[in-house]
Amino acid sequence: MSHLPSRCDLVLKNVLLPSGRTADVSVHRGRVCHTGSPISADISIECRGRLAIPAGVDMHVHMRGWSQSAKEDWNTGSLSAIAGGVTVVVDQPNTIPPLDAPGSYRERVQDGLVHSNCSFAVNGGVSPKADLEGLWNAGAMSFGEIFAAPSSYGQALDSDLLARALSRIGAMGALATIHAEEVAPGPDCSLTDHDRLRPERGEAAMVREVERMACPAGAELHFCHLSCPESVKAVTSGSVEVAPHHLLLSRDTFSPQDTWGKVNPPLREEKTRRGLLSCWDRIDVIASDHAPHTRGEKADDFDRAPSGIPGVETMIPLLMAEVKRGACDLGSLITKVSQTPSRLLGIKDAGFSPGDRADFILFEGEISAVNAERLHSRAQWTPYEGMRALFPAVVVMEGEVVYRDCEFFPGHPRWYPGRGYISSMPKTLGADSSLP
Ligand code: DOR
Repeated sequence: MSHLPSRCDLVLKNVLLPSGRTADVSVHRGRVCHTGSPISADISIECRGRLAIPAGVDMHVHMRGWSQSAKEDWNTGSLSAIAGGVTVVVDQPNTIPPLDAPGSYRERVQDGLVHSNCSFAVNGGVSPKADLEGLWNAGAMSFGEIFAAPSSYGQALDSDLLARALSRIGAMGALATIHAEEVAPGPDCSLTDHDRLRPERGEAAMVREVERMACPAGAELHFCHLSCPESVKAVTSGSVEVAPHHLLLSRDTFSPQDTWGKVNPPLREEKTRRGLLSCWDRIDVIASDHAPHTRGEKADDFDRAPSGIPGVETMIPLLMAEVKRGACDLGSLITKVSQTPSRLLGIKDAGFSPGDRADFILFEGEISAVNAERLHSRAQWTPYEGMRALFPAVVVMEGEVVYRDCEFFPGHPRWYPGRGYISSMPKTLGADSSLP
């Protein structure tokens, strides 16, 4: 006990932990210092009856910004993340311009440092002309999503370029995150067409192909948003990421021309969705693939409407409702939305042991219905309207309350650079090279 501070910053009193134990969680300088009896604190919050879990680390979000700010930007996207219990996001590089050079990469980080309300990392983009080593030194957390098939604002790499990129990424010891799909030509006029043109077997074949390429290159692989059991089972060495929309929605949920369900990889038929849920134990990471587009863009004809679904704010609430109804267990959900992504990215775990990152979600126990009007993404629509969800009552980031009873409070978000980072920025910009 001698190394405990005599006074700490925050105590969550009588909080119900995921283990079922009730305890006081004391927090100092952004880290848990004690879980048990309380330490005197500047701020004390009575939490009796409230469940606390570690906050989410969402490995796959598109925060947009710049010329795409009508869809989302760092400010609105990060508020949406916090209200959904996510305190760390990994931004994807298919921005305009793409983050495939250190210059655009640094600008993106700078924009996040000024405008993001939650902590964040930014991935490096992989295009034919990308300066991968420059991006790695500039702080890229990992690489990709690397498009093995074209998607919104993402140009596909042919297999030669992909193999060479994997070899360079492997040489740096970085993580390659892969968007695995195969796309056939043809009219794309409905969710059924979309599913047929980007088929399950093509996704699984691409997983196998990328694994074959990466084997000599030695690149560590992470497969993004796998949408069907065949692809999940095809992964032998990399980590498996699945998105909530593939777990909770099928194309049968929507009318055939409904563009709100248009996403890459596509929503599958109900049988596949159930099959994917039954692969729960093989899923390493659940990440939202938060891909906001405006209502106007989505109102276009099906073949022209962009693919993508906003989801960073609804991911944990929807899955918590699944836990409440007994469809999955709380411990494995925490592993998939918080602990495994933290470990893959080299970010300190959030949790309740001394030294853990003090990022938590507190729930009060009230299930409600998703309502787009209460969400914070600039997109202002959701394909989950009316579905059961358990939204956070309080969110704590780095030991500070940043959200309480629907109100936001300023915190101290961090930028998490990757392992190749060579600091060229003054510490005051927020980059902390002593991380995690
Ligand atoms: O549907 C998608 N939309 N899939 C992706 O891979 C990219 C994303 C986007 O950026 O809109």
